[in-house]
This record gives sequence, C-alpha cells and structure tokens, in this order.
Amino acid sequence: MKKNDINKFVLKHIQQIKPFDPAEPLDSMAAKVGVEPEKIIRLNANENPYGPSPMVNETIKSLQANIYPDPEQNAIRTELSKFTKMPKETILCGAGSDELIDLLFRLFCTPNNNVIECDPTFGMYSFCARITGTSIISVPRDDNFELDINAVKSAITPETRIIFINSPNNPTGNLAQQKDIEILLETGLIVVIDEAYYEFTDKSFAPLVLTHNNLIVLRTMSKWAGLAGLRIGYGFFNQDLVEQLLKIKQPYNVNSAAELALMASLKDVDYLMNNVKLIVKERSRLYSALQEFGSYIKPLPSEGNYILCESLKVPSSKVVQGLVGKAIFVRQFSHPKLNNYFRISIGKPHHTDAIISALKEIL
Ligand SMILES: Cc1ncc(COP(=O)(O)O)c(C=O)c1O
Repeated sequence: MKKNDINKFVLKHIQQIKPFDPAEPLDSMAAKVGVEPEKIIRLNANENPYGPSPMVNETIKSLQANIYPDPEQNAIRTELSKFTKMPKETILCGAGSDELIDLLFRLFCTPNNNVIECDPTFGMYSFCARITGTSIISVPRDDNFELDINAVKSAITPETRIIFINSPNNPTGNLAQQKDIEILLETGLIVVIDEAYYEFTDKSFAPLVLTHNNLIVLRTMSKWAGLAGLRIGYGFFNQDLVEQLLKIKQPYNVNSAAELALMASLKDVDYLMNNVKLIVKERSRLYSALQEFGSYIKPLPSEGNYILCESLKVPSSKVVQGLVGKAIFVRQFSHPKLNNYFRISIGKPHHTDAIISALKEIL
C-alpha cells in the first residue's frame, strides 16, 4: 500500500481536525532559547509553581505498580466526599478533568448534536466536540468577556445537548454570575460548569448539583494541588449520571500513582491552600505591577492563577517573543479576538520580578 493511502481509513472528520495546542515540554523550550531547563520561567500553562505536597512523593514510594487501580474509585471518591462535603455517589474522577469532558461527549452527543461554549474560553470543549464530530456553537462573550446569556439562549437548537461554562473562565479570568447560571439551568439542557480554578476564588456552583439534575461541576487537582503531571480531576454529577459514566469510562482510567497523590494531597490541604494563598497574593502584586505599564499593557482582573493582558501599543507577538528571548514563556492565542493578548500564569515572587523587569526592557 502506498504510504498515504492508509489515511483513507481514517474518519473524514478526524482527518480535518487541528491538533490541540498544548503546553510545550520544558526541554524543547530550553532548546529553543539555548539555556538549561532550570533557567526557563514557565508561565504559559497555569501550572502550580510550588509543586505538589511533599507528602505526594513520600506516598508514591509505596505504590504497588503491578496491581490495577479500583475501577469504582472507592477510596478516592470517599476522601473527596469528606473534603468537598458532597455525597460520594455524586463524585467521579477522571485522568484530568480533560478526560471527564471527553466522557461527557460520549455520554450525551452524537454527530447530529451540538454543544454551546462561550467564546473565548478553554479549548478542550471544542477539541472534544471535533473528535466526536459534534458541532460546536461558539457564542461570543460581550466586550468585557462576560457571558451573553440572551445570545446563548437564542443559540440553542433542538439538537443542543450541553452548555459549557468555565468559571473562572480561562483565559479571561472572570466568574459566571449566579443569575446567569440559574437561567441556563432552566433550559433543562446539561449545563457543565468547569471550576478548574475554583480554589483561587472560592466561588462555586457545586451545591446546586444536589438540586439540579442537569448541572455538572468539574474540578481538578492539577492547579491548586500541583498534580498536573499525574492527571487527576473530578466532577460532581447527578447520581444517575455517575452510574452511567461508571459504565462507559475506561475501567482503570485513574492510575494508582494519581490515586495515592490525591489521597496524600487531601491529608495536606493546609499546606496546599497556603500555597494557593501565596499565588493569590502574587496575582494582585503582578496585576498592580502590570497596571504601571499604563498605555502599553491592560491587565484584566482575574480570579484564576493567571492574568490576561492586552498589549495596547506593541503587537503581542513581539512582547511574547521578547519574553522568550529572556527565557520567559507566556501564552499566546490564535483566537482572532485575542490577537493582541497574552496570558501570564502566576509564578513565585521572583518570577513576577523577572517578568516585570523583562517587560520594562521590551516595551
Ligand atoms: C478551564 C480548564 N479546565 C480544565 C483544564 C484541564 O485540567 P486537567 O489537568 O484536570 O485535565 C484546564 C487546564 O488548563 C483548564 O484551564
């Protein structure tokens, strides 16, 4: 068979998919700049600069790697239930909340359906939609990046299955309002609120899962608990939906190291939440420092562990490349509305100092 012919077996809609734009590995960042990986300031993936609890590495030493993990996730769901004060029957874990997003498409959508996202937002909703061949209706946020609830309501069609809301929204940093969520819940469609950055703000819609069977709230251990590399997230669902999801998920989706890491993290919440406090404090210091750039940079207030900035005079690509030249990586976007924006993840105080002095040189 000729080399390219093999592609003819690949589903048409998959052939057309653009790959997800992921965070670059540290090694390739270092190679790009020609410095040691330790010299790279990595502020482009909303990771936790303080890392996981020291108890995580300690606990993982006892890992029994030859034994499959529990398909029903009993131990971790029990601990998450104690931690979140939500019933265990409403909790399910995934290999990152990304996997839970993917599972929701398998549960609710066929290629005849569509889902709604409020744009600009996290790219995983549209990425998973494209993989399943589900149409994605992107409803633009307003000029302040707030939800346009009337536009969302008018976008709904008989084929709509899910409305995705990210709160705080990545990359814009703002929260969804309770009154807007209530309106969306009244539509009777599945409403997914992605609270990946909840711990940096403390505003949650999770309790509403107990009174609204169409609400799903997703959380992750990647950000506040510093476990991005181990891939573990969780969600709150109506109990019936948890049972359906248990049927369709890969039986051993959450690996044993991630399970142990979650258990260890939940034993060290004070340590981790202290790091969250440091990040929140640093967020306001970075925000004030960025405001000093006056007519050059407009930072947006943020409830997450990142700040979206508009570059007002210089093309954002120039700013981003200028920072790369100083071994500082921030996030740029291909989204047309974010052409002149870049997003800075909150680091440690010396990262803030480095980026501010680099920006002073570049602008
Ligand atoms: C809004 C949002 N949801 C979900 C995720 C993915 O989280 P996880 O690492 O749990 O898959 C991210 C990661 O950046 C995110 O920004």
